[in-house]
Amino acid sequence: MEKKNFDWANLDFSYRQTDKSYVSYYKDGAWDEGQLTDNHTVTISECAGVLQYSQSCFEGLKAYTTEDGHIVTFRPDLNGERMEDSARRLEMPVFPKERFVDAVVQTVRANAAYVPPYGSGASLYIRPYMFGSGPVIGVAPAKEYQFRILTTPVGPYFKGGIRPLTLCVSDFDRAAPRGTGHIKAGLNYAMSLHAIVTAHKNGFDENLYLDAATRTKVEETGGANFIFVTKDKKVLTPKSSSILPSITRRSLMYIAKEYLNYEVEEREIYFDEVKDFAECGLCGTAAVISPVGKIVDHGKEIIIPDCQNGMGPVLKKLYDTLTGIQFGRIEAPKGWIKVIE
Ligand code: PLP
Ligand code: COI
Repeated sequence: MEKKNFDWANLDFSYRQTDKSYVSYYKDGAWDEGQLTDNHTVTISECAGVLQYSQSCFEGLKAYTTEDGHIVTFRPDLNGERMEDSARRLEMPVFPKERFVDAVVQTVRANAAYVPPYGSGASLYIRPYMFGSGPVIGVAPAKEYQFRILTTPVGPYFKGGIRPLTLCVSDFDRAAPRGTGHIKAGLNYAMSLHAIVTAHKNGFDENLYLDAATRTKVEETGGANFIFVTKDKKVLTPKSSSILPSITRRSLMYIAKEYLNYEVEEREIYFDEVKDFAECGLCGTAAVISPVGKIVDHGKEIIIPDCQNGMGPVLKKLYDTLTGIQFGRIEAPKGWIKVIE
């Protein structure tokens, strides 16, 4: 299979159409068998549930070329599970996780020429998504849906690659205590757009959101969870029922404990504690681990001492181990790597 001719090492995080997408239709109470398609345009009713009441959810994962030349994905079963949870919360029909994984495999295989080569630093981003396509005018779940997967080759999420980011403490809230922050609903991202555009206008890379109820605890950013490292090298991550349960974060906490023998803790983290931490990183599929050098709280600057030149030593070890597992250089825990071909 001949690879497409991209400047792989210089790809940014934007959409580039590939050969095939996947689509399955839900109608009369059942999903059809699903198929690959060449059609990258969606035509739906003007009154579709997604257009009127934002009934949509999505996932994000990546395919990589390993050191020995295989195409693999990382823990796609967990994305399938999370999409089941998202669908239930949004009164959408569940697309079963086994079918989700099979659809991911089919779509990646059909776009193998777009999976960036080993060592390029790029990957094939996989975006499964689901939306209400049937008409609704009274507020109610749609009766018809589409589950689709598109793929697109991408480079780093943050412009300029791995560099210390500057965050601002947002005046906006991302998620209500018993709302939808824990699922990957499109609506969570629609309402974050004003906050991120404002942050960018003010010269910041991302927002740090506080918990909406007390505005004293660290939640997450618009597209990634937090990992902190204390001065005595304990690895911490915020515990909250209103943040997205990041698959990268769950994997990193396991790696920190089981591979690197760090003490780890998932607990509520007060914003007041952040000034005392040695390292801070954003973690997610798109962000991988992105170091945070500075957090600005209404003019007050918090400098993260060990992330002034990039990742500090603990985050770097976590990054090297995670990417080592993803690219086949380090043995993965059982079930983490799904080989496509
Ligand atoms: N938090 C938010 C709000 C996200 O959009 C994402 C990205 O999916 C993450 C965290 C990281 O999750 P994951 O590691 O599963 O990609
Ligand atoms: C991902 O990391 O896959 C995401 O969905 C985050 C998104 C903001 C790009």
